[in-house]
Order: sequence, then C-alpha cells, then structure tokens
Amino acid sequence: MVSNIAVFASGGGSNFENLALKSAESGFDIKVLIADSPDVFAVKRAEKLNIPSIIVDRSAYADKQKFETGIREALSDFDIEYIVLAGFMRILSAEFINAYKDRIINLHPSLLPSFKGKNGIEDAYNYGVKVTGVTVHYVDAGIDTGKIIAQTAVIIEEDDTLLSLEDKIHQTEYELYPEALKKVLDGRV
Ligand code: GAR
Repeated sequence: MVSNIAVFASGGGSNFENLALKSAESGFDIKVLIADSPDVFAVKRAEKLNIPSIIVDRSAYADKQKFETGIREALSDFDIEYIVLAGFMRILSAEFINAYKDRIINLHPSLLPSFKGKNGIEDAYNYGVKVTGVTVHYVDAGIDTGKIIAQTAVIIEEDDTLLSLEDKIHQTEYELYPEALKKVLDGRV
C-alpha cells in the first residue's frame, strides 16, 4: 500500500529530491511540498519533479499559531497520512504535533542525543568527536528529542574537513531516510 506524505523544507531540498526519486520503491507518494519561504530552492526541484508545492511564508504571518494554521489549510487539500521534515528549520508547536500525533518524522544530521539543533554537522566537527552520524526520529514537543527510528554512524577521519564531512553526512542521509520511512510505513517501527 502506498502512503500519502507531505514533505516540509526550508532549504536546498536535496533530501526532498532524493525521497521523490525513491518514493515508488519506498512505498510513499509525495503529494505536496510545503516551503516556509519563497527563497526555498526545494520549490524549484518540485517544479522539475512535477510535485505540487505550496509556499507558506512564515514572514507573512503575525505569529507561529497563524503560520501553522496556514500550513494546516494548505494540507487540507491533500489526503496526508505522514509529514516528513527534510531540512525544515522551524520548531512546530505541541498543538500542531498533537494534531499529527506519531505521524511527523524528522531527519537530523548527527547521532542524537548528541548535537541537537540547527548546526548538527558543524557542532560535531568543531567538538572534535570521532564518530557522528544521521538520525531519523519521530517529532515530539521537544527539540530533536522524539523516539529514534533509525541511525547510521559516520566516522570523522583525521583528514576530513567540514565540507567533506557534510558530504558524507548527506550521502548517508540519502540512504537512511527512504529506508527508515519505508520501515515506518510498513509498520515495522
Ligand atoms: C539535512 O542535512 C538535514 O539533516 C538537516 O538539514 C539538511 C537539509 O539539506 N536538518 C536539520 O539540521 C534539522 N535540524 P537539504 O535541504 O539539502 O535536504
């Protein structure tokens, strides 16, 4: 059975594109991309992939509650079962999360619970850890605290730069995220 998902993005959207390309084999259909600003490059990728996108511009809303109402209105035209965050850099409210309880999934570029927050790759690199990685988890009301679905470790070698580490992390994300989503949709986690 194929599950209908919405992907939320704030940035380049390479994970969104990767999910779109692997959607058929992973058992989901991306019904819509939600972007939080007109500058989100993922919207351009969606055009090329023929996936509808809706810009819910955070700066056009007075507060988070109104912004999230805007998102829910945008989603209401689609029969969405899961919300998949792919580089979405906003903290969703407990009210929004409860409305989609256990149906919002996030990708984070570190081995949680280490290096939560917006700069997971850089924070791990600057700390000097020798192992970091990628985590897929359910979203709860905390920041990067929800139940872990899947993780892959990435070794930081002596000659890695921040740039080479970013590349390793992204390559790992492209493998892990579709696999982890497939497990969720199959009811295996
Ligand atoms: C990814 O590395 C993702 O793990 C990270 O943003 C990047 C988005 O890249 N997410 C977070 O840091 C969430 N806290 P993309 O726009 O090219 O998919």
